[in-house]
Amino acid sequence: MSIALVILAAGKGTRMQSDLPKVLHEIAGAPMLVHAMQSGAALDPARVVIVAGHGFEAVRDTVAAHDPDATVVRQKDQKGTAHAVDAARDALADFDGDVIVLFGDTPFVRPETLTNMVKARGDNAVVVLGFEATDPGKYGRLVMQDQSLEAIVEYADATDQQRAISFCNSGVMLADSKALFSMISEIESDNAQEEYYLTDVVAIARKRGLSVTAVACAEEETLGINSRLHLAEAEGIFQERARRDLMELGVTLQDPASVMLSHDTVIGRDTVIEPNVYFAPGVTVESGAHIRAFSHLEGCHVSRGAIVGPYARLRPGAELAEDVRIGNFVEIKNAILDEGAKVNHLTYIGDASVGAAANIGAGTVTCNYDGVMKHKTTIGKRAFIGSDTMLVAPVTVGDGAMTASGSVITEDVPDGALAVARAKQVNKPGLAVKLFELLKSKKAKQDKERV
Ligand code: UD1
Ligand code: MG
Repeated sequence: MSIALVILAAGKGTRMQSDLPKVLHEIAGAPMLVHAMQSGAALDPARVVIVAGHGFEAVRDTVAAHDPDATVVRQKDQKGTAHAVDAARDALADFDGDVIVLFGDTPFVRPETLTNMVKARGDNAVVVLGFEATDPGKYGRLVMQDQSLEAIVEYADATDQQRAISFCNSGVMLADSKALFSMISEIESDNAQEEYYLTDVVAIARKRGLSVTAVACAEEETLGINSRLHLAEAEGIFQERARRDLMELGVTLQDPASVMLSHDTVIGRDTVIEPNVYFAPGVTVESGAHIRAFSHLEGCHVSRGAIVGPYARLRPGAELAEDVRIGNFVEIKNAILDEGAKVNHLTYIGDASVGAAANIGAGTVTCNYDGVMKHKTTIGKRAFIGSDTMLVAPVTVGDGAMTASGSVITEDVPDGALAVARAKQVNKPGLAVKLFELLKSKKAKQDKERV
């Protein structure tokens, strides 16, 4: 059975107090809408339709960047969840199969849960995802009769007896496409909120003599995000899950709660992560590496056996080969470091390639930017860059070459050469002693005048 994924993401999200559409707020470095798309992707949908409204252009651009095959349709006014699904009607006019509806602000539904819904579909015309709520609040209530779901009643329309039900609607619904759109045509807005409720599909299906059922999932999967507080809670839930997953795969997190991961962080087994490390999106760390405390990594690759930090910053395009060492207060951007290269202290390496076993001294800077353009620095194998070398790019330091400390290197250094590019030292015997005396007497005079 082929499946179309419809994600509702047109709402404004007033309680976020934000200029950004709610579904574009990020959890673990990815918009919550992208999380919802990723969980839906587990069903390998033949079609993906996103219903956008508020911040339409921004939502469309985000969707295009994540899944260029997805269709984004516009729901002009937000008249309720059924009205929102109806906005996908034309996009799915030629589609035969099941539709699964997800909410863009409910990003944590597990792929296994969606698979369970697909399994439960069988002879049921509609399958709804429910959960036992610890605090049912204003969720829609699922009115069950044994295995059969008779109706979903919105809180605002529910009787006291119905409000006492704790089995609640998550919002996720699975149904045959043609049947769903036909039932949506019958939905009216004669309810407390004067909205077109998607939830009314259940009662309509029952009236048609079709069977409907509900599948249950863990409450944490259905967390809907309506405020910054919910966003922080969602981040916490994601982080906890992701840390646990990594540890189960054999990664050591010395202080799990202080490590922040992204939606796409990949770390190999036997890698050790010290406290307070931040993984922004796009990081892969191979097995047996060691990321020391207070490091920040983004868009980079760390190979087996490499040691990074403490206090290191790896920016996009940093590629560390095996056994590379990156020490404290070192920033690496768009640079390839070959096997065993060492950059241990207070250094910036940007737009560069560093050969195997090269040693970069403290305080080295690749001067890669002239104010207008970026330029490349190439450092050869086993080269030794003296402390406080300025490498004014574009420039090449050859294999096995050296630069003297404090050099400003503006020209290429041949293989095996030593480049010295600094003023020659001159010693003036006894002059320091005289200078001290002069300065001290000046100060004494000043102090006297002040009294
Ligand atoms: C909905 C359900 C409720 C369920 C709850 C779970 C209905 C009628 N009610 O209520 O049973 O317990 O979710 O969180 O479905 N949206 C649109 N266009 C609209 C309206 C909504 O795109 O016109 C989108 C929103 O952006 C959001 C989702 O649909 O992503 C849910 O809408 P929301 O207004 O939050 O529904 P609830 O009142 O929470
Ligand atoms: Mg809601």
